[in-house]
Amino acid sequence: MNKTDKMTVVISGGASGIGYATAKTLASRGNRLVLVDLDQEKVDQAVEELEGEGHIGISADVTSTDSIGSAFETIRRSFGHLDGVVAAAGIVDPSPSESVSDESLERLIDIHLLGSIRMARAAYPLLCDSAKASIVCLSSMGARLGVPQRLGYNVAKSGIEGMVRTLAVEWVRQGIRVNAVAPGWVKTPAIANLIDSGFLDPTPVEERTPLGRFAEPTEIAEAIAFLLSPTSSYITGQSLTIDGGMTIHFPQ
Ligand SMILES: NC(=O)c1ccc[n+]([C@@H]2O[C@H](COP(=O)([O-])OP(=O)(O)OC[C@H]3O[C@@H](n4cnc5c(N)ncnc54)[C@H](O)[C@@H]3O)[C@@H](O)[C@H]2O)c1
Repeated sequence: MNKTDKMTVVISGGASGIGYATAKTLASRGNRLVLVDLDQEKVDQAVEELEGEGHIGISADVTSTDSIGSAFETIRRSFGHLDGVVAAAGIVDPSPSESVSDESLERLIDIHLLGSIRMARAAYPLLCDSAKASIVCLSSMGARLGVPQRLGYNVAKSGIEGMVRTLAVEWVRQGIRVNAVAPGWVKTPAIANLIDSGFLDPTPVEERTPLGRFAEPTEIAEAIAFLLSPTSSYITGQSLTIDGGMTIHFPQ
């Protein structure tokens, strides 16, 4: 994305990890960002650290249609315009499938799948008026592989890929492209917590990954920036795998 393609982009989960790395990448190229995350102080701090002027931070919860609705009302009042959406809010909550609580399952699906749908639907009226409208959702290798103890997560990510294909076809006449990225393991606070708590051993992950390492958040941000930008104008309804070759690797 170069400076002539400046966009206004909203990012859920924008105060941390992949969402924040995407915000930094886009801001450094002259784009205007709206960061949406749970905690106002955290989101304000993230906005303050972005390059450039005019960015805003909004505390909102993607599990609430009202909360997301009022966030988009603030965007409409502040800018009257929107070009891009990145749905990157998320949690991890590993648990065996036979004993995971209904509450955990529902929360994972609510945040990841319904949260992405809420973001896309709330953005729709503004995106209809943009000449370069693009939505990018966060899928995962969990949509392709049976990652153990991730029932709700894997189901939600598989659902996101179905949502992406559906909206891509339905909203094509309005000029809205809809895609996903499906990262493998990325060095973010969410994954650091899994490693620090002893739940995830990084060594087998590195051994299984042909590129031999975790991704940096900026490596996912670059792909999201590409899918948002008019440079990817003929790509819609896709999920781009970014996993260092992990899902195509047959270890022998
Ligand atoms: N890190 C990885 O290895 C990896 C791999 C594949 C996909 N992903 C996906 O990327 C996305 C970002 O993950 P991350 O690793 O950067 O995580 P992260 O924990 O660093 O950031 C997630 C952000 O989402 C916010 N959030 C959580 N629940 C929310 C809610 N209800 N409303 C609004 N915001 C909420 C959190 O406050 C946090 O700031 C997630 O969808 C995740 O599933 C991550």
